[in-house]
Amino acid sequence: MCGIFGLITKKKDVPVAKLIREGLQRLEYRGYDSAGIALVHDGKIECRKDSGRIADINKDGWFDSMEGSFGVGHTRWATHGPPVAKNSHPHLDCKEKIAVVHNGILENFQQLRKELSERGHEFKSDTDTEVFPHLIEEYIEKGMDLKKAVIETVKQCKGAYGIVVCHADTPDYMLVARKESPLTIGITPGETTYCASDIPAFLPLTKTAYILDDDEIAVLYPGQVEIFDIETNQKRHRDPMTVQWSMDAAAKTLDGKEYKWFMHKELHEVPRKIREQFKMPQSDIDAFAKTIMDADQVFITAAGTAYYACLAGKFQITRFGGPYIQSILCSEFKDHLPEIPPNSVVMAVSQSGETADTIEAVRYARENYGAKVCSVVNVVGSSLTRYSDHVIITTAGPEIAVASQKAYCCQVSALSMVALRIAELKGEMEKDEVKKYHEALIETGNVCDEILKKEDNIKSIAKAVSEKTNFYYLARGASMAAALEGALKIKEINPKAHAEGYAAGESKHGPIALIRDGFPVVFVAPPDETYDRLIGNVMEMKARGGLIISVVADFDEKISELSDYTIEVPIKNNKYAITMSAVPFAYTLQILAYHAAEINGFDVDKPTNLAKSVTVK
Ligand code: F6R
Repeated sequence: MCGIFGLITKKKDVPVAKLIREGLQRLEYRGYDSAGIALVHDGKIECRKDSGRIADINKDGWFDSMEGSFGVGHTRWATHGPPVAKNSHPHLDCKEKIAVVHNGILENFQQLRKELSERGHEFKSDTDTEVFPHLIEEYIEKGMDLKKAVIETVKQCKGAYGIVVCHADTPDYMLVARKESPLTIGITPGETTYCASDIPAFLPLTKTAYILDDDEIAVLYPGQVEIFDIETNQKRHRDPMTVQWSMDAAAKTLDGKEYKWFMHKELHEVPRKIREQFKMPQSDIDAFAKTIMDADQVFITAAGTAYYACLAGKFQITRFGGPYIQSILCSEFKDHLPEIPPNSVVMAVSQSGETADTIEAVRYARENYGAKVCSVVNVVGSSLTRYSDHVIITTAGPEIAVASQKAYCCQVSALSMVALRIAELKGEMEKDEVKKYHEALIETGNVCDEILKKEDNIKSIAKAVSEKTNFYYLARGASMAAALEGALKIKEINPKAHAEGYAAGESKHGPIALIRDGFPVVFVAPPDETYDRLIGNVMEMKARGGLIISVVADFDEKISELSDYTIEVPIKNNKYAITMSAVPFAYTLQILAYHAAEINGFDVDKPTNLAKSVTVK
């Protein structure tokens, strides 16, 4: 939520403003209601900001024509105050010497703002962020240098922040500090230093990075970084890491083809990303499997799509002999569990590793009740990885589209591997049986390749239902996760339609009241143990005029015959392939949602009101 990108360089003739603007555009998935840039030039701060998308604000080169040797930009997802120019970041102090951008929420900003106003500071925005430059200004007036002033300022602030501070009178460096909001630093040693809320912002420029920890401040010189502990002001040594993601991961090109939308490109990456996932270190899978088996109670938590990956994963783990796992939405975690029993494990799933509610849930369990934390995370070095005992890194690579898809497919694949390892370790299933399930799971990438070959069929179904404004997605058992994910995807990126994922057996206890002629009902119908019961639910909906869209195995006969439209998932006709088909079934629904949104002309990558990485609670 909110994107930050800044840079400081000693290289001459660098188009600093343009580079910052481009970096911000690579981060627009974090927020896109307004944007701004501040540059230091000739002892002054020049700041330009406005509401709207960056491309529109910069239409006549408004950002690119700014002059300056270093600076910072921000793309906003509004929290405090509507998305208008005055609330856009950067924010300045009274003398307009200090520029600050911020990602996070300050809890005590009202009190600070009141005190600062009483002392004569003039506020120009409704934001919590604006207290930063005014506090820093005061500390500098008291004789502190910029670093000390920022340290004293953040000590006053309660809540979450990732901030970048530039001062017109200190042209050699800028400062970044963080607590509970992400901030990464990229570096071309000896030349240029970047700061950003996510790695993809500087990925085309460098792969060498530092991750800032909570309660750290860093001084960014051109091509050099010094990190300090905020509490003690002691310098901390940190080795840079090399980002493993490819440089073109932040572009819309794949295999030489330019895609219109990141989401479409990312959906086409799914088969290869899943294959990479299956090559994850055996030691990581073992650590998960053993920790889960040794626990007295296991919980699994996440938000949104990642939560649906939890549902798919927990189903597999229990099915293969693991314990029953209690799934709880991370935003509900604390309220549902006023106490956590001893020897519990909390599994957490997250693409960003920065979702505030997920982090709060695992910290609550770990810090108060000593629970062990096993997390499945896409971003190396993200906050969640630092609160975890064991981590499985998903191989999705940067997911730029706001609506998650390839991350989900990798998360479910990884959790399925853990499930099979549990079966192996428990030894209750014949080794040969486990091997056959494993072979079927490894086929997932090929199955998804085959699904892509049928994309035109999925697109034609999307076209046929593109005018619909309500959908049910119904399923039973293991496929509930896919139904929920399919419905979430539709309502996120095709906001013309409301969609609800529901347990098929439960649908006659209420939802069926809405069924009229032509009301679309999507059935997720693999030929598993729930199939025959699901036929009954299809009949009930059909009898009331429902328009039946079914996602079935390609050898299906019964449900496809009852359906108006059918999407066929090419899996083998055996129990191994059927049991391991969670990803392919969900994947078809992600593709369906993509095409519905694209046909309806929505901004597929940046859906209304949504932002990737929800770093506020
Ligand atoms: C849905 C979506 C969100 C995220 C959720 C969790 O398409 O993208 O629902 O899944 O905000 O985010 P992470 O996985 O980063 O914790």
